[in-house]
Amino acid sequence: MASLQPVRGTHDILPEQERRHRLVQETAHDVASRYGFDEISLPIFEFTEVFARSIGETSDIVSKEMYTFSDRGDESITLRPEGTAGVARAFISNGLAQHLPLKFFYRGPMFRYERPQKGRQRQFHQVGVELLGVDQPQADVDIIALGAHVLEALNISDKATLELNTLGDPESRIAYREILVAYLRQYESSLSDDSRIRLEKNPLRILDSKNKEDRKIVQDAPTIFDSLNDASKDFFKTVCQGMDALKIPYTVNPHLVRGLDYYGHTAFEFTTDALGAQGALIAGGRYDGLIKQMGGPPTPGIGWAAGVERLAMMVNEPDAQNKPIAIVPVGDGQKERAQLIAHQLRHAGFSIELGYSGNMRKRLNRANKLNACAAIILGEDELAKGVAAVRDMATGDQQEVSLESLADSLARYRS
Ligand code: HAM
Repeated sequence: MASLQPVRGTHDILPEQERRHRLVQETAHDVASRYGFDEISLPIFEFTEVFARSIGETSDIVSKEMYTFSDRGDESITLRPEGTAGVARAFISNGLAQHLPLKFFYRGPMFRYERPQKGRQRQFHQVGVELLGVDQPQADVDIIALGAHVLEALNISDKATLELNTLGDPESRIAYREILVAYLRQYESSLSDDSRIRLEKNPLRILDSKNKEDRKIVQDAPTIFDSLNDASKDFFKTVCQGMDALKIPYTVNPHLVRGLDYYGHTAFEFTTDALGAQGALIAGGRYDGLIKQMGGPPTPGIGWAAGVERLAMMVNEPDAQNKPIAIVPVGDGQKERAQLIAHQLRHAGFSIELGYSGNMRKRLNRANKLNACAAIILGEDELAKGVAAVRDMATGDQQEVSLESLADSLARYRS
């Protein structure tokens, strides 16, 4: 049998960690719903083409990171590496064009065969939003503001900065590509192997190369701003003005190009240096050409996705679950009664811990460990009188309470 270790780059999310994940997801969901986003859940695997056609054949994701396999019907299937392509596919296959604009929120696992390190897994989780059908720059401002709002609600906005760029419209991008390639050709022999390949296939990606030599060369490269046509300039200007009006701080980074090919106009990332090398917390941009390219009606789109693991590492420890009330039978004779009382109180809305064994002292110790707010002690004589002792675990005060009014007298412990 293969080893019983989890597959490299995958993680068990144990309860303490799951609480952090839940805090991140619920916060993102709550904030997104204030902006009118509705949750959808899409399949975790799709036909490989859905991703290959959208994210781009030359992207790292498609060329080397996808979990692709043939299923038993010989279909090429891929575990989703991200959520946007699936949303675009669902928009097309459900014929949603007459319902525009649409605002979707999603969460769930994504899969990329990357080199695992802190903040980078092969199975990771995203929360994301996609706004379809709006081509005005106000939508970009709204979407970025929503990202900033999520970080604020998680209390980590002081550790994140917003980087903003434009990739212009297709006309500007084609013009820029030519100028950039001409510039980079002069230094071709000094470029890294990866970048030399990209020079042919996807030269803009060289701008965010991590290679030292590449970075030196790129530093003096012409920027997209030299090639933007008026419409693209205006678009970006309006986005920046919108950010200024909302007082959301940002820096313009002309080297921010993102690793997915579907972007045009706005591209942005909220990054942090609190997590080491993997600093992108929330990343996204506009993808007006994507749905058409996938065979749907021309439909603009913009959105972002956030890495749940990365955000979960940064948030403060969330409160533990509800503090339970422990039921403590003094002896074996009270066990059945204890179970019945636990049953009734759970149905009355309390969270009840029923230790299954041990003497009274052991059970009280356990109640303490579980951070119980109260213990209901069931002794033989007391039960015969129809009462129980309720001990407040914080103060140690103990009171006798009739079993009939037990639920009422526990009201203050209700979470
Ligand atoms: P992305 O930049 O590939 O964009 O991923 C978004 C976020 O997911 C990253 O900023 C990071 O927080 C997290 N992430 C990505 N890969 C990993 C990994 N291997 N381990 C842990 N976290 C990771 C997208 O996925 C686009 N679909 C975003 C988008 C939505 N653009 C428009 N709409």
